[in-house]
Amino acid sequence: MDKLLQIASGFMEAKVLLAGAELGVFDHLGHDGATAAEVAHAIDGDPRGTEILLDALVATEVLRKESGHYHNLPEFEHFLLVDGPAHFLGLLRHRNRMFRTWAILEDRITGKQPVEPRPEILDDPQTNANFIQAMYAGGMRQAPAVVDHLDLKDVRTVADLGGGPGHYLAEIARRSPSIEPYLIDLPLTLGVARRILARTEVFVRLRFVEWDFYRESEPPPLPPFDLVLISAVLHAESPERNRDLLRRVFPLVAPGGRIVVQENMVEGDRTRPKDAALFAINMLTATPGGRAYTETEIRGWGEEAGFRFEGCERLSPRSSLLTLRK
Ligand SMILES: C[S@@+](CC[C@H](N)C(=O)[O-])C[C@H]1O[C@@H](n2cnc3c(N)ncnc32)[C@H](O)[C@@H]1O
Repeated sequence: MDKLLQIASGFMEAKVLLAGAELGVFDHLGHDGATAAEVAHAIDGDPRGTEILLDALVATEVLRKESGHYHNLPEFEHFLLVDGPAHFLGLLRHRNRMFRTWAILEDRITGKQPVEPRPEILDDPQTNANFIQAMYAGGMRQAPAVVDHLDLKDVRTVADLGGGPGHYLAEIARRSPSIEPYLIDLPLTLGVARRILARTEVFVRLRFVEWDFYRESEPPPLPPFDLVLISAVLHAESPERNRDLLRRVFPLVAPGGRIVVQENMVEGDRTRPKDAALFAINMLTATPGGRAYTETEIRGWGEEAGFRFEGCERLSPRSSLLTLRK
């Protein structure tokens, strides 16, 4: 029973942090801290509710309270301010949006509240910015380890398809000064990526290309690519659409070139790793046809498109790299 109780209560601490992030309370604590009344005024909130939330943030050891003043903790402040360089607040706000869709999981399963055909994370500017910052905050630390596993010898042109904030592409460009890097994504996402990547030394080399690759069958003019990275894209769409996408990517790859798919893959029985099985729930709540896929499924779409399967490595419970050669 303890285990069930622990699982059932997990949402409480999460929601306290996510509400604090959504309301931006951390920005109003300043260097000297602030009272609940001051924070309530700054966020246009109810004083009683604001005080209860701030006390819970202290209880969960996210904030400190002294003489009625609430303070950020030095180790977290960097992550919790709106303009923090880690873009972590965007990740928390994206998680808060997930929280709302997870809250109606059973309605998704019964069909009482079906998913919108086009997710607002792609079309609403603020929701998209949170989403792309979340990808950056979550992915930038693992980018070097992922790129360590990509053989860049003989790679001159590389496309990051659905590259989001472009953290993998920037890492590839950094390591290989002669590579031509293309970030291919939707217009809103590319706008956010430009703002994030403008701070990097490789920014001037990056080419930003708009292509809605699930809806527009013809790509804009592009060179043949030696390497196409497709990271964390396929899980948001149905098997049919992914099969079709890989078929349309095939002509974009140079002879002898390859695509590398990074995904949060499930094992064959779909119950492991736990991270991937839970991630499948996220896709169920947020997309009409997405889920966590197996290596065999992705390999099959690639082989049907004409690629030769070269291997699949699990780098961590959340990351597998599958290579398909042309
Ligand atoms: C989960 S993010 C992954 C970002 C990055 N590749 C990573 O691994 O962190 C999915 C990306 O696919 C892009 N995307 C989704 N549907 C797309 C479409 N139809 N055409 C182009 N890009 C799309 C989104 O804008 C987003 O950047």
